[in-house]
Amino acid sequence: MDKIIIRGGNRLSGTVPVSGAKNAALTLLPCALLTDEPVTLRNLPRLADIDGFQHLLNQFGISTSIAGARPEDFGRVMTLQATRLTSTVAPYDLVRKMRASILVLGPLLARAGEATVSLPGGCAIGNRPIDLHLKALEAFGAKIELAAGYVRAIAPDGGLPGGDYSFPLVSVGATENALMAAVLARGTSTLHNAAREPEIVDLCNLLVAMGAEIEGIGSSDLTIHGVQRLHGATYMVMPDRIEAGSYACAAAITGGDITLAGARMEDMAATAQALRDAGVLVEAVRGGVRIASDGDLRPVTLSTAPYPGLATDMQAQLMAMLCLAGGSSVLTETIFENRYMHVPELNRMGAHIETKGRTAIVHGVRQLHGAEVMATDLRASMSLVIAGLAAEGESQVHRLYHLDRGYERLEEKFALLGADVERVGGD
Ligand code: UD1
Repeated sequence: MDKIIIRGGNRLSGTVPVSGAKNAALTLLPCALLTDEPVTLRNLPRLADIDGFQHLLNQFGISTSIAGARPEDFGRVMTLQATRLTSTVAPYDLVRKMRASILVLGPLLARAGEATVSLPGGCAIGNRPIDLHLKALEAFGAKIELAAGYVRAIAPDGGLPGGDYSFPLVSVGATENALMAAVLARGTSTLHNAAREPEIVDLCNLLVAMGAEIEGIGSSDLTIHGVQRLHGATYMVMPDRIEAGSYACAAAITGGDITLAGARMEDMAATAQALRDAGVLVEAVRGGVRIASDGDLRPVTLSTAPYPGLATDMQAQLMAMLCLAGGSSVLTETIFENRYMHVPELNRMGAHIETKGRTAIVHGVRQLHGAEVMATDLRASMSLVIAGLAAEGESQVHRLYHLDRGYERLEEKFALLGADVERVGGD
């Protein structure tokens, strides 16, 4: 298995292109199930998760073709067409690798009137149920059965009537599934306390481009008037605010000065505020966002929350950065339990972090030291890379497949910024 070797100490500088957002792409791709016409997605990141999702969609008879991808380009263009669905079953061996596979449930049900999806796997960040996905679909009129590790959803009489659902807690994936199910319902549906992450807005924008009728886009109250059919569309995936935030933390911990080309400040306001509170300069510049730091980081108190709060997907990277702050920071993780798996690994690199339940206290240290480390999820892996960039000596981050799920050509991007990061085979 590949690993990443980082020789720390280089100050990052230069410009790095921000890729298309993984989490937006993973909800835009299944929209192709909703129409027999072609859907073309531009700026799709080249990631293992996207390849996996493409493979899953092929399983249902969707044809996919990729255009205009020269090896040196970041991103690519994919055209998907579901002229006729040949299957409505998402099998275990595909779904277990990627939790986002559950996002085919809503659109399959809407298009075909039935769907059978294996219960998902994905990142090991705590217990991640799908009860809210199922409750929302039930509220729209679906009949749901659970058997032998599979969810079977059926729309009585071939189509969902539509309905009203109020989420007891904010769920990104359940909001996405519900939206994709409701757009082809016979009647009007409403969602209350819906997630309003920028990726949800991206999903709504594609659905509207395909002919869907959605009111309240960007708010937590959505009204979806079902339409009889949707048509094809060409759509540009939004920039990845989490990738951008990750490179921002890397720049800050090295006392660097970088430009995140293509990043949108409005999507990453909470991350920008956290960085500013830590003493980092964050400013909108032409075509992106500039991050600059003199390496003198201040401790901060942070708590993750649904958007527009601080993204849980930024917690590990900010924690790595705060390991070198001049004092103690307090981080609280409110979205997922068990999302501090990077803490023992950071401590092995010389960090001083204590956890108690959902809270982590990060006592700033003067110096981190290179070590061999590994993480069990995507963002945790990135936090170890960030620590390695500032550490004295060499670090090796194992289990690179986590990073390949969510960071497009990471070592090339870090090389653009002057970091000494190398991918090598063998583990
Ligand atoms: C998405 C993102 C993930 C991010 C997370 C929170 C994708 C592919 N993944 O994951 O990167 O960390 O949002 O911003 O977009 N929950 C339930 N029942 C459900 C669904 C969720 O209890 O049916 C709980 C979860 O356990 C968690 C919380 O709700 O505690 C939020 O999860 P959710 O927003 O659904 O995360 P995902 O959509 O899985």
